Parts: sequence; structure tokens; C-alpha cells
Amino acid sequence: MANIVVVGTQWGDEGKGRVIDSLARTSDAVVRFQGGSNAGHTVVVNGEKFVFHLIPSGALYPGKKCIIGNGVVVDPQDLLLEIEALRSKQIELKDLYLSSNAHVVMPYHKRIEQIEEERRGEQRIGTTGRGIGPAYADKAARRGVRVADLLEKGVLAEKLRINLSFWKNFYGLDYSAKDLLHQYLEYGRKLKRYVTDTSLLVNRLMQEGKNMLFEGAQGTLLDVDHGTYPFVTSSNVVAGGACTGVGIGPTKIGKVLGVAKAYVTRVGQGPFPTEIQGKIGEILKEGGQEYGATTGRPRRCGWFDGVILRYAARVNGLDELILTKLDVLDLLDKIKICVAYKYRGKLIQDFPFELEYWERCQPVYEEMKGWKKDTSRIKIEEDLPKRIREYIKRIEEIGGLPIRRLSLNPERSEFLSLY
Ligand code: GDP
Ligand code: IMO
Ligand code: MG
Repeated sequence: MANIVVVGTQWGDEGKGRVIDSLARTSDAVVRFQGGSNAGHTVVVNGEKFVFHLIPSGALYPGKKCIIGNGVVVDPQDLLLEIEALRSKQIELKDLYLSSNAHVVMPYHKRIEQIEEERRGEQRIGTTGRGIGPAYADKAARRGVRVADLLEKGVLAEKLRINLSFWKNFYGLDYSAKDLLHQYLEYGRKLKRYVTDTSLLVNRLMQEGKNMLFEGAQGTLLDVDHGTYPFVTSSNVVAGGACTGVGIGPTKIGKVLGVAKAYVTRVGQGPFPTEIQGKIGEILKEGGQEYGATTGRPRRCGWFDGVILRYAARVNGLDELILTKLDVLDLLDKIKICVAYKYRGKLIQDFPFELEYWERCQPVYEEMKGWKKDTSRIKIEEDLPKRIREYIKRIEEIGGLPIRRLSLNPERSEFLSLY
């Protein structure tokens, strides 16, 4: 197995956690490269549900290295809680590594996010409230606190002094430098055993020929450069983010796998051309249990969008697509696939860039009959209903890339392989 990057091709929650868990069985290490505890990656094993936010979704296999790269923004409190929650289920993270260069989410980041969302009013992003945007903003503004700083009292005290006086002037925030210093040095003390140069570690492992899995969070349309800006997250979600977010060269990546849900969901605000209102949207929401793994918010549901698939294939350089949650479509009489958009009478094949287009375009649909069969227990290709095979084939044609693996239920299991 080569070094594989796994990314979401829609607006997140495509089932990346479930996919990573399956692929991790034959990998040596799983590496997160961006995002933070805004992510919620679900793995279900024998009916027991695990939701990962910062810890890579390979953690349930003993002996796999779990690595949090420099591109991640880390809330130490969330990370410690996640470690503790896993420990209470007898999962010891002996091989957890945390980049000393990763930036730290501070309490004032969450407060700033709240203030900015309130100010935006109707135009709010609908963020997860995890302080992600302000933490990345501080990183870009070169005043961020890094994990290594939590181990150096003098450095942390100075950074807190600069940041707290800045935010006091800007937003009138009043945090006690002394209390924060004490609290974050304590976090540093608890996390110290995991902190290392993860770029060095990952490059060494690759040199030894180990199988590396790079786990993307969010989805392509939430990428800060390539997504539906400004209704995006604040990191590079696309496959290229694995290089900057870990400290590896692009030549080291062997394969890029995209994960797509058999329909589309979105949490939070922002354009969503194929969104469905009414009964069918409800069937998808309830059938797919479409409630945010991090915030519990209901997810908006829509038809499969081939325009965004083609776009995701392009900006990620996808080699292959893994299709999840096909079983959720089992009940539907008719299923639609969006193949293009129409804007002011003009047909659009390539994903447009302006908010105006996303908000006003009309999806152009192809419609097919549903298969109306329970597919959730199917294990081999030969047992798939003919219509589901047609649906998959059409998605392959529209996206111009192969689908070789399907997921038809949330439980840990092998994928259904297609030949
Ligand atoms: P992620 O953020 O991409 O890891 O996805 P989430 O974990 O947020 O959301 C995906 C949800 O779908 C989780 O509740 C999974 O347990 C569930 N899931 C994943 N694959 C399948 C599938 O093939 N069928 C069904 N019914 N559920 C799935
Ligand atoms: P996973 O990894 C779905 C969305 C939020 C909001 C926007 C910005 O589980 O797929 P942020 O808190 O990141 O500043 O919010 O991005 N969002 C996600 N939506 N899945 C996620 O992660 C998400 N992470 C952020 O709802 O619209
Ligand atoms: Mg999720």
C-alpha cells in the first residue's frame, strides 16, 4: 500500500472516519493534517460508536501510530478529554504523537468567533464554535501560540501578554494572563509526552517503507481557497494540505482517495445548489441520521451533485472515489443526480466561483428509478440490485473516476469491492 491521502469531496461528513478505520487495518500510521475539533469522525464497532475530533480515526487498532500534524489547530482541553474518554474504554494511546508546531486554540478564540458570528447576523457562517477560524487567523497573523510554547513558561507568558493586550484593545476582552498561563502550562505538562517533530517522524516512517494514511477533515467545498467562500472552514482541506500540514513533499504521496456520500449534506450556512426541502429531505435526514457528530445540528440534505464531484476530482487530483451511505437511498422511489447547473439560461459544467452563481443556479437533474431493496447487508457485488449498479456507473462517468469500494452500513467491515 502506498502513502494514501483521504479527503472529503463534499461539505464534510462523507463518512471519512468509517473509511479511515477500514483502511487503517492495513496501515502503520494515521496522520491528521488540518482542521481541529470542528471535525467529528464516526467509527462504529460492534454497535459501539466512537467519535474522533482531534485524534486520528485509526486509534481503535492497537499498535497503529496516531499522529497530529502541524497543520492541525489543537484545543488542549478537547484533546485531553478525548484521550481520557478513550482510556475509559480501555483504549490506551501509546502511539500518539502531537506536532510541536501545531497551533493552539485558546479560550479567547472561541469568544472572538462568537462575537464575529453575532456581528454577521444573517450572514453568519454557522461555525462549530470551536475557535477554529480565529486560531488559524492568529497563525497567519504570526502571533499564534504553538504546542511547543506550552512547554516554555517564559515564551508562553510573553505570547499571552501580546495576545491578551491585542484582544483587549480590539474587542475589550479581559482574560487573566496569570490564570491562562497556569492553565496552559498545566496542559503542556500533561501533553508533553506526546509532543515531537512529527514531520521528522513521518518522513522517517516513509523511508522505512511504512504504510501511511493521511486523514483529511471537513470536505473540499469547505476549503478556505477552493470552497464556497466565505462559507468555509479556515484550512486547506484539499489533498495538497497533507503536504503543508505534515511537512512532507508532494512526491511522497502515492494515492489520493475521495470520499463521497451517495447524496450530499451540509451543516451550517452557505449555498447548496442541490438541497432538497420537504419529505425526501426528511427521509434522507432520518434514514442517514444526519445530525452533526460535533454539534448535533441537523444536516441539510440534497441530491448527489456531479458538478462538485468533477471539481473535487480536479482540485484534489483524485485517483479513486469511495461511495458511502448508498443504503440510505434504499427507500426512495426516484433518485436524482445533478449533472450540470443552469444560470440565467446558460449551462454550467464547471463549478463556478461566485456566491451569486451558487445561490441562484438551478441544478440540471437526471432522474432514475430507485432500487427499493435493503442493501445494508450486501457483501458482494453480484448481490447488488441492477439499479444501484447503474447509479454507481453514472457517478463514475460524471466524475470521470473509478469507484471500487462502497460502504452500505456504518459498522466496521470490509468495503464492498467492485471489479
Ligand atoms: P466524517 O466526518 O466524514 O467522518 O463523517 P461523520 O462521522 O460525521 O458522519 C458520517 C455518519 O454516517 C456517521 O454517523 C457514520 O456512522 C455513518 N455512516 C458511515 N458510512 C455509512 C454507510 O455506508 N451507511 C450508513 N447508513 N451510515 C454510514
Ligand atoms: P468533518 O471532518 C461538516 C462547517 C461548519 C461551518 C463551517 C465553518 O466531520 O467532516 P468552523 O467551525 O470550521 O469554522 O465552521 O464549516 N464544518 C463542518 N461541516 N463536517 C465537518 O467536519 C465540519 N467542520 C466544519 O458547519 O459551516
Ligand atoms: Mg463529521
